[in-house]
Amino acid sequence: MESVNCGEGGEEQTNFAREEAWDSHRRCLSTVFVVLSENRLVSYFTLSPFIVSLKIRENMPEPKKELVMELRGRLERLLGMDIKYSSVPTILLGQFCLQNEYRGRGIGGELLAKVIKPYAVLYAARIGGVGLSLHAKKQVAKRFYLNPKKNPLASGFQAVSKGSTYELFYPFAAEAIAVRRALIERFKSKEFR
Ligand SMILES: CC(C)(COP(=O)(O)OP(=O)(O)OC[C@H]1O[C@@H](n2cnc3c(N)ncnc32)[C@H](O)[C@@H]1OP(=O)(O)O)[C@@H](O)C(=O)NCCC(=O)NCCS
Repeated sequence: MESVNCGEGGEEQTNFAREEAWDSHRRCLSTVFVVLSENRLVSYFTLSPFIVSLKIRENMPEPKKELVMELRGRLERLLGMDIKYSSVPTILLGQFCLQNEYRGRGIGGELLAKVIKPYAVLYAARIGGVGLSLHAKKQVAKRFYLNPKKNPLASGFQAVSKGSTYELFYPFAAEAIAVRRALIERFKSKEFR
């Protein structure tokens, strides 16, 4: 991971890769994935369990309350049930960057939709989880994650909180449930063979 260089604006991701990624992976604080093309490093990302709080606190600013209530309603519709809990489990995309030379070519959006989300769904189907969570600087949230020209999943992303950093959430409950069903079927057919 010493060769990771995410370029301008990606200093946090570069430092994490060089100084912390291996320890974080080894100690089960996150799972680090690397994406290679012909043995060249293209990208790395981390996934780990997370929770999204659905608790409404008295002193919460009104816009935050509205966001949380909207999210709860949306999740209840997706799951087809009332959510009685004050939080829901999700999968966190903790770090994500491209090597500098691969940035700006639309690869980030493709990786998010075709690699990162499917892995997150698979994890959620195994350990529980109803969506993908991430924290992004306001500019990155607006120019990349919430921008349909850059990110094929943009229209599904919800803002859980907005400030200089955005907490974003992409619900995928229905997909995780379908994968879980398939895993159970596979388990059953093996057991009874
Ligand atoms: C964010 C990232 C994964 C997107 O992948 P990509 O293939 O480069 O995406 P695209 O080129 O399709 O679009 C990225 C858009 O976000 C902007 N962007 C990316 N990183 C940015 C940053 N750190 N600060 C501000 N804007 C940023 C780009 O300028 C571009 O917008 P523009 O076309 O209006 O200039 C990649 O740019 C990257 O690794 N950035 C550095 C690390 C980072 O910010 N990771 C996200 C942390 S949650």
